[in-house]
Amino acid sequence: MQSALAPGGEEAGRIAFLTWILFAGAGAILLVVAGSLVMAMRGPERLRQALGGERAIRLGGIVFPVVTLAILLGCGVWLMRESLALGRPAALRIEVTGERWWWRISYPGSDGSLLADANELRIPVGREIDLVLHTADVIHSFWVPNLGGKLDMIPGRTNTLRIKADRPGIYRGQCAEYCGGAHALMALEIHAVAPDEFDAWLISTQAPRLGEGIARGQGLFQAAGCGACHGIRGTPAAGTIGPDLSRVGGRRFLAAATIPNSTENLVRFISRGQSVKPGNLMPEFRIFSDEELDAVAAYLSSLK
Ligand code: CUA
Repeated sequence: MQSALAPGGEEAGRIAFLTWILFAGAGAILLVVAGSLVMAMRGPERLRQALGGERAIRLGGIVFPVVTLAILLGCGVWLMRESLALGRPAALRIEVTGERWWWRISYPGSDGSLLADANELRIPVGREIDLVLHTADVIHSFWVPNLGGKLDMIPGRTNTLRIKADRPGIYRGQCAEYCGGAHALMALEIHAVAPDEFDAWLISTQAPRLGEGIARGQGLFQAAGCGACHGIRGTPAAGTIGPDLSRVGGRRFLAAATIPNSTENLVRFISRGQSVKPGNLMPEFRIFSDEELDAVAAYLSSLK
Protein backbone atom coordinates (compact mmCIF):
# COMPACT_ATOMS: atom_id res chain seq x y z
CA MET A 1 0.00 0.00 0.00
CA GLN A 2 3.04 2.30 0.08
CA SER A 3 4.21 2.42 -3.52
CA ALA A 4 5.51 5.13 -5.82
CA LEU A 5 4.34 2.99 -8.76
CA ALA A 6 0.66 3.17 -7.77
CA PRO A 7 0.03 6.92 -8.01
CA GLY A 8 -3.06 8.37 -6.33
CA GLY A 9 -2.52 11.92 -7.60
CA GLU A 10 -1.04 14.01 -10.45
CA GLU A 11 2.28 14.72 -8.76
CA ALA A 12 2.82 11.03 -7.97
CA GLY A 13 1.70 10.20 -11.52
CA ARG A 14 4.46 12.38 -12.99
CA ILE A 15 7.01 10.78 -10.70
CA ALA A 16 5.86 7.28 -11.67
CA PHE A 17 6.09 8.22 -15.38
CA LEU A 18 9.59 9.60 -14.87
CA THR A 19 10.54 6.43 -12.99
CA TRP A 20 9.51 4.28 -15.97
CA ILE A 21 11.42 6.52 -18.40
CA LEU A 22 14.55 6.23 -16.27
CA PHE A 23 14.04 2.49 -15.88
CA ALA A 24 13.65 2.00 -19.63
CA GLY A 25 16.67 4.24 -20.33
CA ALA A 26 18.83 2.43 -17.78
CA GLY A 27 17.67 -0.92 -19.19
CA ALA A 28 18.62 0.10 -22.74
CA ILE A 29 22.05 1.32 -21.59
CA LEU A 30 22.63 -1.91 -19.69
CA LEU A 31 21.91 -3.89 -22.87
CA VAL A 32 24.30 -1.74 -24.93
CA VAL A 33 27.08 -2.03 -22.32
CA ALA A 34 26.58 -5.77 -21.88
CA GLY A 35 26.48 -6.25 -25.68
CA SER A 36 29.69 -4.22 -26.10
CA LEU A 37 31.36 -6.25 -23.38
CA VAL A 38 30.49 -9.53 -25.09
CA MET A 39 31.68 -8.15 -28.45
CA ALA A 40 34.91 -6.88 -26.89
CA MET A 41 35.64 -10.38 -25.62
CA ARG A 42 34.16 -12.67 -28.28
CA GLY A 43 33.47 -10.50 -31.32
CA PRO A 44 35.32 -10.38 -34.65
CA GLU A 45 38.92 -9.12 -34.52
CA ARG A 46 38.12 -5.72 -36.13
CA LEU A 47 35.29 -5.00 -33.72
CA ARG A 48 37.43 -5.92 -30.75
CA GLN A 49 40.13 -3.58 -31.99
CA ALA A 50 37.60 -0.77 -32.36
CA LEU A 51 36.06 -1.30 -28.91
CA GLY A 52 39.51 -1.30 -27.30
CA GLY A 53 40.60 1.88 -29.06
CA GLU A 54 40.75 5.38 -27.69
CA ARG A 55 37.93 6.56 -29.92
CA ALA A 56 35.49 4.07 -28.38
CA ILE A 57 36.49 5.18 -24.90
CA ARG A 58 35.98 8.88 -25.76
CA LEU A 59 32.63 8.23 -27.40
CA GLY A 60 31.29 5.63 -24.99
CA GLY A 61 32.89 6.90 -21.82
CA ILE A 62 32.47 10.67 -22.19
CA VAL A 63 30.17 11.75 -25.05
CA PHE A 64 27.49 9.11 -24.51
CA PRO A 65 27.03 9.63 -20.72
CA VAL A 66 27.08 13.43 -21.05
CA VAL A 67 24.44 13.41 -23.78
CA THR A 68 22.15 10.79 -22.19
CA LEU A 69 22.37 12.24 -18.67
CA ALA A 70 21.66 15.74 -20.04
CA ILE A 71 18.61 14.42 -21.90
CA LEU A 72 17.35 12.56 -18.81
CA LEU A 73 17.91 15.62 -16.61
CA GLY A 74 16.05 17.84 -19.07
CA CYS A 75 13.24 15.29 -19.23
CA GLY A 76 13.01 15.21 -15.42
CA VAL A 77 13.05 18.99 -15.00
CA TRP A 78 10.40 19.42 -17.71
CA LEU A 79 8.14 16.73 -16.23
CA MET A 80 8.45 18.06 -12.69
CA ARG A 81 8.27 21.75 -13.65
CA GLU A 82 5.00 22.28 -11.79
CA SER A 83 6.43 20.89 -8.55
CA LEU A 84 9.56 23.02 -8.87
CA ALA A 85 7.64 26.30 -9.21
CA LEU A 86 4.49 26.21 -7.13
CA GLY A 87 3.10 29.62 -8.05
CA ARG A 88 0.16 30.80 -6.00
CA PRO A 89 -0.39 29.15 -2.59
CA ALA A 90 -3.18 26.56 -2.46
CA ALA A 91 -6.43 27.50 -0.71
CA LEU A 92 -5.90 24.87 1.96
CA ARG A 93 -2.62 24.89 3.85
CA ILE A 94 -1.91 22.29 6.51
CA GLU A 95 1.18 22.48 8.68
CA VAL A 96 3.11 19.29 9.31
CA THR A 97 6.04 19.32 11.70
CA GLY A 98 8.50 16.47 12.05
CA GLU A 99 9.15 15.55 15.68
CA ARG A 100 11.19 12.73 17.21
CA TRP A 101 9.41 10.40 16.24
CA TRP A 102 5.95 11.46 15.17
CA TRP A 103 4.15 14.05 13.04
CA ARG A 104 2.58 17.19 14.45
CA ILE A 105 -0.31 18.39 12.31
CA SER A 106 -2.08 21.76 12.43
CA TYR A 107 -5.24 22.39 10.44
CA PRO A 108 -6.54 25.90 9.91
CA GLY A 109 -9.67 26.39 12.01
CA SER A 110 -12.61 28.43 10.71
CA ASP A 111 -11.83 31.24 13.18
CA GLY A 112 -8.19 31.48 12.14
CA SER A 113 -6.92 29.36 15.02
CA LEU A 114 -4.85 26.24 14.45
CA LEU A 115 -6.31 22.83 15.28
CA ALA A 116 -3.72 20.44 16.62
CA ASP A 117 -3.67 16.81 15.59
CA ALA A 118 -1.05 14.13 15.02
CA ASN A 119 0.05 11.24 12.85
CA GLU A 120 -3.08 10.89 10.71
CA LEU A 121 -3.56 13.52 8.07
CA ARG A 122 -6.97 14.07 6.56
CA ILE A 123 -7.33 15.75 3.18
CA PRO A 124 -10.18 16.40 0.74
CA VAL A 125 -10.08 14.53 -2.60
CA GLY A 126 -9.64 16.64 -5.73
CA ARG A 127 -8.40 19.80 -3.99
CA GLU A 128 -4.87 21.09 -4.11
CA ILE A 129 -3.30 21.20 -0.67
CA ASP A 130 -0.08 22.81 0.43
CA LEU A 131 1.65 20.90 3.18
CA VAL A 132 3.82 23.40 5.01
CA LEU A 133 6.70 21.34 6.35
CA HIS A 134 8.81 22.20 9.38
CA THR A 135 10.87 20.30 11.88
CA ALA A 136 11.04 20.76 15.63
CA ASP A 137 14.43 19.13 16.03
CA VAL A 138 16.54 17.20 13.50
CA ILE A 139 16.10 16.66 9.75
CA HIS A 140 13.12 14.49 8.86
CA SER A 141 11.69 13.83 5.42
CA PHE A 142 8.02 13.73 4.54
CA TRP A 143 7.23 11.01 2.04
CA VAL A 144 3.89 9.58 0.99
CA PRO A 145 4.94 7.77 -2.21
CA ASN A 146 1.43 7.31 -3.61
CA LEU A 147 0.79 11.06 -3.52
CA GLY A 148 4.10 12.75 -4.26
CA GLY A 149 7.83 13.01 -3.94
CA LYS A 150 9.70 13.23 -0.69
CA LEU A 151 10.59 16.59 0.79
CA ASP A 152 12.97 17.18 3.67
CA MET A 153 11.99 18.98 6.86
CA ILE A 154 15.02 21.08 7.65
CA PRO A 155 15.68 23.05 10.86
CA GLY A 156 15.09 26.77 10.33
CA ARG A 157 13.44 26.29 6.94
CA THR A 158 9.91 26.01 5.65
CA ASN A 159 9.35 23.71 2.68
CA THR A 160 6.06 23.44 0.89
CA LEU A 161 4.81 20.25 -0.73
CA ARG A 162 1.74 20.46 -2.94
CA ILE A 163 -0.36 17.33 -3.10
CA LYS A 164 -3.70 16.39 -4.58
CA ALA A 165 -5.40 13.04 -4.18
CA ASP A 166 -7.46 12.00 -7.21
CA ARG A 167 -9.35 9.24 -5.46
CA PRO A 168 -10.42 8.59 -1.88
CA GLY A 169 -8.37 6.16 0.10
CA ILE A 170 -5.73 5.69 2.75
CA TYR A 171 -2.16 6.41 1.72
CA ARG A 172 0.74 5.44 3.93
CA GLY A 173 3.83 7.55 4.41
CA GLN A 174 7.13 7.16 6.19
CA CYS A 175 9.88 9.46 7.41
CA ALA A 176 12.51 9.14 4.72
CA GLU A 177 15.53 10.65 6.44
CA TYR A 178 17.31 8.89 9.27
CA CYS A 179 16.47 10.94 12.35
CA GLY A 180 17.61 8.80 15.27
CA GLY A 181 16.44 5.81 17.30
CA ALA A 182 12.82 5.35 16.29
CA HIS A 183 13.16 6.64 12.71
CA ALA A 184 11.87 3.36 11.29
CA LEU A 185 8.74 3.69 13.44
CA MET A 186 7.88 7.20 12.25
CA ALA A 187 5.10 6.57 9.77
CA LEU A 188 1.81 8.30 9.07
CA GLU A 189 -1.37 7.84 7.11
CA ILE A 190 -3.10 10.26 4.81
CA HIS A 191 -6.85 9.75 4.63
CA ALA A 192 -8.24 11.27 1.44
CA VAL A 193 -12.00 11.75 1.85
CA ALA A 194 -14.81 13.46 -0.09
CA PRO A 195 -14.58 17.28 0.23
CA ASP A 196 -17.87 17.67 2.13
CA GLU A 197 -16.84 14.88 4.49
CA PHE A 198 -13.56 16.70 5.09
CA ASP A 199 -15.31 20.01 5.77
CA ALA A 200 -17.65 18.37 8.28
CA TRP A 201 -14.72 16.58 9.92
CA LEU A 202 -12.77 19.83 10.24
CA ILE A 203 -15.70 21.56 11.91
CA SER A 204 -16.28 18.66 14.28
CA THR A 205 -12.60 18.56 15.20
CA GLN A 206 -12.90 21.95 16.90
CA ALA A 207 -15.00 20.36 19.62
CA PRO A 208 -14.14 16.66 19.84
CA ARG A 209 -16.60 14.16 21.28
CA LEU A 210 -16.17 12.40 24.59
CA GLY A 211 -17.74 8.99 25.05
CA GLU A 212 -19.84 7.80 27.97
CA GLY A 213 -18.58 6.57 31.30
CA ILE A 214 -15.08 7.95 31.03
CA ALA A 215 -14.99 10.27 34.04
CA ARG A 216 -12.66 7.97 35.97
CA GLY A 217 -10.17 7.68 33.13
CA GLN A 218 -10.27 11.41 32.56
CA GLY A 219 -9.61 12.04 36.25
CA LEU A 220 -6.63 9.66 36.25
CA PHE A 221 -5.27 11.24 33.06
CA GLN A 222 -5.30 14.63 34.74
CA ALA A 223 -4.05 13.47 38.13
CA ALA A 224 -1.06 11.68 36.59
CA GLY A 225 -0.02 14.84 34.76
CA CYS A 226 -0.52 13.45 31.21
CA GLY A 227 -1.92 16.84 30.23
CA ALA A 228 1.45 18.49 30.79
CA CYS A 229 2.64 16.93 27.52
CA HIS A 230 -0.57 16.10 25.65
CA GLY A 231 -3.39 18.42 24.69
CA ILE A 232 -7.08 17.49 24.55
CA ARG A 233 -9.33 20.30 23.35
CA GLY A 234 -12.13 21.21 25.72
CA THR A 235 -10.31 19.82 28.79
CA PRO A 236 -7.60 21.21 31.10
CA ALA A 237 -5.02 19.09 29.23
CA ALA A 238 -3.10 21.67 27.21
CA GLY A 239 0.38 20.19 26.76
CA THR A 240 2.09 20.62 23.42
CA ILE A 241 5.25 18.55 23.90
CA GLY A 242 3.73 15.26 22.78
CA PRO A 243 1.08 14.40 20.18
CA ASP A 244 -2.32 16.07 20.57
CA LEU A 245 -4.86 13.49 21.74
CA SER A 246 -8.12 15.35 21.04
CA ARG A 247 -9.16 12.69 18.51
CA VAL A 248 -6.78 9.86 19.35
CA GLY A 249 -9.65 7.36 19.65
CA GLY A 250 -10.55 7.91 16.00
CA ARG A 251 -7.11 7.14 14.59
CA ARG A 252 -6.36 3.80 12.97
CA PHE A 253 -2.93 3.52 14.52
CA LEU A 254 -0.98 4.57 17.61
CA ALA A 255 2.59 5.79 18.06
CA ALA A 256 2.97 7.18 14.50
CA ALA A 257 1.42 4.24 12.63
CA THR A 258 3.37 1.72 14.69
CA ILE A 259 0.59 -0.41 16.25
CA PRO A 260 -3.16 -0.67 15.51
CA ASN A 261 -5.31 1.51 17.73
CA SER A 262 -7.12 -0.49 20.41
CA THR A 263 -7.62 -0.16 24.15
CA GLU A 264 -5.21 -3.09 24.71
CA ASN A 265 -2.52 -1.36 22.67
CA LEU A 266 -3.15 1.94 24.47
CA VAL A 267 -2.55 0.10 27.75
CA ARG A 268 0.64 -1.43 26.31
CA PHE A 269 1.92 1.91 25.06
CA ILE A 270 1.20 3.79 28.29
CA SER A 271 2.73 1.18 30.59
CA ARG A 272 5.40 -0.53 28.44
CA GLY A 273 5.91 1.93 25.60
CA GLN A 274 9.63 1.32 25.28
CA SER A 275 9.02 -2.27 24.20
CA VAL A 276 6.45 -1.10 21.64
CA LYS A 277 8.52 1.75 20.22
CA PRO A 278 12.07 1.63 21.58
CA GLY A 279 13.61 5.02 22.24
CA ASN A 280 10.36 6.98 22.07
CA LEU A 281 10.41 10.04 24.30
CA MET A 282 7.37 9.20 26.44
CA PRO A 283 8.34 7.67 29.79
CA GLU A 284 6.61 4.41 30.74
CA PHE A 285 3.80 5.07 33.19
CA ARG A 286 4.01 2.18 35.64
CA ILE A 287 2.20 4.06 38.38
CA PHE A 288 -1.22 2.84 37.25
CA SER A 289 -2.84 -0.40 38.37
CA ASP A 290 -4.32 -2.65 35.67
CA GLU A 291 -7.79 -1.35 36.40
CA GLU A 292 -6.57 2.26 36.22
CA LEU A 293 -4.80 1.58 32.92
CA ASP A 294 -8.02 0.20 31.47
CA ALA A 295 -9.88 3.32 32.63
CA VAL A 296 -7.32 5.69 31.06
CA ALA A 297 -7.32 3.66 27.82
CA ALA A 298 -11.12 3.70 27.72
CA TYR A 299 -11.05 7.47 28.12
CA LEU A 300 -8.54 7.93 25.31
CA SER A 301 -10.47 5.53 23.04
CA SER A 302 -13.58 7.67 23.55
CA LEU A 303 -11.91 10.78 22.10
CA LYS A 304 -13.11 10.88 18.50
CU1 CUA B 1 11.97 11.35 11.22
CU2 CUA B 1 13.34 9.73 10.21
